[in-house]
Amino acid sequence: MNYARFLNKVSQARQPSPIRVLTAILQQSKPSMISMAGGMPNVGTFPIESATFKLSDGTKLEMDHELMKKALQYTQTPGVPELVQWVKGLQERVHKPPCSGVNWDLLITNGSQDGICKSFDAMVSPGDKVLVETPSYPGTLAAVKPMDCELIPIKSDKNGLDPSDLENVMSNWNVSDSDIPKLLYLIPNGGNPTGHGLTEERKRKIYSIAQKYNLIILEDDPYFYLQFNKPYVPSLMSMDVEGRVIRFDSFSKLISSGMRLGCVTGPKPIIDRISLHMQASVMHASTLSQATLLLILKEWGYEGFDNHVETVTEFYRQKKYMCLKAAEKHLTGLAEWDEPSGGMFLWLKLNVPDTYNLITVKAREKEVLFVPGNAFQLDEAQPCQYVRASYSLCTEEQMNTAFERLAALIREEQSN
Ligand SMILES: Cc1ncc(COP(=O)(O)O)c(C=O)c1O
Repeated sequence: MNYARFLNKVSQARQPSPIRVLTAILQQSKPSMISMAGGMPNVGTFPIESATFKLSDGTKLEMDHELMKKALQYTQTPGVPELVQWVKGLQERVHKPPCSGVNWDLLITNGSQDGICKSFDAMVSPGDKVLVETPSYPGTLAAVKPMDCELIPIKSDKNGLDPSDLENVMSNWNVSDSDIPKLLYLIPNGGNPTGHGLTEERKRKIYSIAQKYNLIILEDDPYFYLQFNKPYVPSLMSMDVEGRVIRFDSFSKLISSGMRLGCVTGPKPIIDRISLHMQASVMHASTLSQATLLLILKEWGYEGFDNHVETVTEFYRQKKYMCLKAAEKHLTGLAEWDEPSGGMFLWLKLNVPDTYNLITVKAREKEVLFVPGNAFQLDEAQPCQYVRASYSLCTEEQMNTAFERLAALIREEQSN
């Protein structure tokens, strides 16, 4: 594929920082190399010597002085090399990206949000049209809305983004049109806010539409490992024979959201550009966070990682059941919903014309918080019947009380 058409002028103009290049050379060279080149501080002056992490199963992981010295120092922009290798191995294992013709690479980012934001920064040019699954994650909308581009909504339902709507929208252009959309953003699993996920059939259709119209797909998948049904629906990246999928993974939902670690995986020419942006902005994701994550992942191995994923998914599966039970008890006849296929959200359609005032004013007065559905629309000013409820943190009792309060508010609204 020729990626020049997808990269904007700013991204194409980025040049490697000579100092960052030296960091990579130094980290890969033999101990006999003498460097008077880098501007690295001397870690001997840093006050932290070592640390011990106690895992929830009682395992103690030691970050000794040697490891700690590395963890406190600058590292290469793509990430701590050993962690990059581990995560590449995970991608190979889980997604088996087709290698014929696609030279893919990976970059550790400050959470998946950083990769998403930098991808839009690299690929959106003034006046571009960008296809966005709706409803959508407000973090992405916050990144892309202020850009000088037109966002085109693509509908979704309980099986994720609707390929027939995508085809319908794209059929307004010929592939040779200069103003044809180039990018499609979607959340394939456990959607935020919907909890819905794409079926394999839909993914294949979406991929073939992307091929037909020469689109790049931004596959934002932080809830991939929180799918409630096994086997996992194969990712779009696993179908990507042409190098048109950029995939965002996150450790936020599995290991720590505060470590701010995720990764972006995709065709090397695009990943290289995002890496150059990182060189010029944050330089790299926190080495201390990366070293801590690596310590845990090395202790677990891929099998231990799978076991942990299973434990976390089971936790959310139980929470989902509690939430559905509470919704049935209190909201039947007052709202509609579909069972989430993954993630941590229940997307409720209330039997009222608009939820904004109900949720942002009246519900708060009754001491219950939800997110009004308009926050997930491209045009927040449009009325919206939906509400996002998260079942991650509440106990079963709290879920029941929350929905009981919501039910009373809906009844009150209906009687007005
Ligand atoms: C759909 C989606 N994408 C991206 C993110 C960002 O996650 P991270 O913590 O990895 O930056 C979130 C976080 O909630 C999300 O829901």
